[in-house]
Amino acid sequence: MYALLRPLLFKLGPETSHDLVMNTLGLVSKSKQLTRLCAMLVGAESRSRPAPPQSVQAMGITFPNPVGLAAGLDKQANACNALHKMGFGWLELGTVTPQPQPGNPKPRMFRLPEHRALINRMGFNSVGLTQFVKNLEQADPEIIKGINIGKNAATPLNNAIEDYLIGLRGVYNHADYITINVSSPNTRNLRDLQQDQALNQLLCALNLERQQLADNTGKYVPLVVKIAPDLDRRQIESIASILRQNNIDGVAATNATLSRRSVEQHALAQEVGGLSGTPVQNAATEVIAALYQNLQGEIPIIGIGGIDSPESALQKFEAGAKLIQIYTGFIYQGPGLIKTLLDAFPQSARHNIFAKPVETKR
Ligand SMILES: Cc1cc2nc3c(=O)[nH]c(=O)nc-3n(C[C@H](O)[C@H](O)[C@H](O)COP(=O)(O)O)c2cc1C
Repeated sequence: MYALLRPLLFKLGPETSHDLVMNTLGLVSKSKQLTRLCAMLVGAESRSRPAPPQSVQAMGITFPNPVGLAAGLDKQANACNALHKMGFGWLELGTVTPQPQPGNPKPRMFRLPEHRALINRMGFNSVGLTQFVKNLEQADPEIIKGINIGKNAATPLNNAIEDYLIGLRGVYNHADYITINVSSPNTRNLRDLQQDQALNQLLCALNLERQQLADNTGKYVPLVVKIAPDLDRRQIESIASILRQNNIDGVAATNATLSRRSVEQHALAQEVGGLSGTPVQNAATEVIAALYQNLQGEIPIIGIGGIDSPESALQKFEAGAKLIQIYTGFIYQGPGLIKTLLDAFPQSARHNIFAKPVETKR
């Protein structure tokens, strides 16, 4: 089905086709019948239900299967029901910013089909927290949802903590886990929040606030930090120890890369933004492996970056990921990629791919 649809969608500009698909899925999500029909069309009707061999326990959550949707596709939490029915084990929604903001000027998304890659400089186009939560309330409560939070472009980096605290409080009751995005390349200086002191201050404030929220609501929501692929070993080592110190429950590795090494010759290579898809595959896997070396399974890793086949998924698991997410591969291959990955996993489970040490639950 997607094989028929893709050539038509790829005739449109990347953001136009993205908006068309997401608006359609948004409408589909409003109707149970249409959502079911959509699932039937992609042959995924029952995949999102817990299936023991494929379910994964992490951060105190049972994920029905280890393949999640990466952040940035459904930034408004508008199409949850339809996306879920395509077979994802869970959805990461957002990035949402406290106030609505338009993001960077268009064009800001580019296809590099020769490399099965995208470059984007969306810049956190966001409906803002209030509308995001309203949308989220329309989603099936059974869907496992990670909510990815960021800061507004107009907020100076010195005040970033306040934006993340607003995000944390705003989505707390609606999230199964919350991802702190400090790795988007498209918000000025955001990645500086990955530096030791800044990261420690941010996570310390968020952890304290989370304790308060957990006490007040009786609900503990795990915190995940999403990091960039463009980090050296020393940075990864110190990030790992800062995550430990601040009771962070998970780490998502990685976001898109600033490197253009593998696409240098491409006409669009010099477009500013994050490069995702196949070209980020190895860098992301290396970050996961280095993280795992430091964390030893104590904090679970969500592996992201260039997953486009069972082999590339297995590389992430072998490097130490407990769960994986896809974005660019999903754009190029559609929902069929979820099925391809899941069909490969019973075999991988037999090969003990999931047998990395289990983290201690807090
Ligand atoms: C168009 C686009 C928008 C994205 N927006 C976000 C975002 O808002 N927040 C975020 O954490 N990651 C965002 N990402 C990064 C993805 O979640 C993912 O980490 C990255 O693309 C690597 O995975 P992939 O190679 O499977 O795409 C975006 C990626 C793309 C291509």
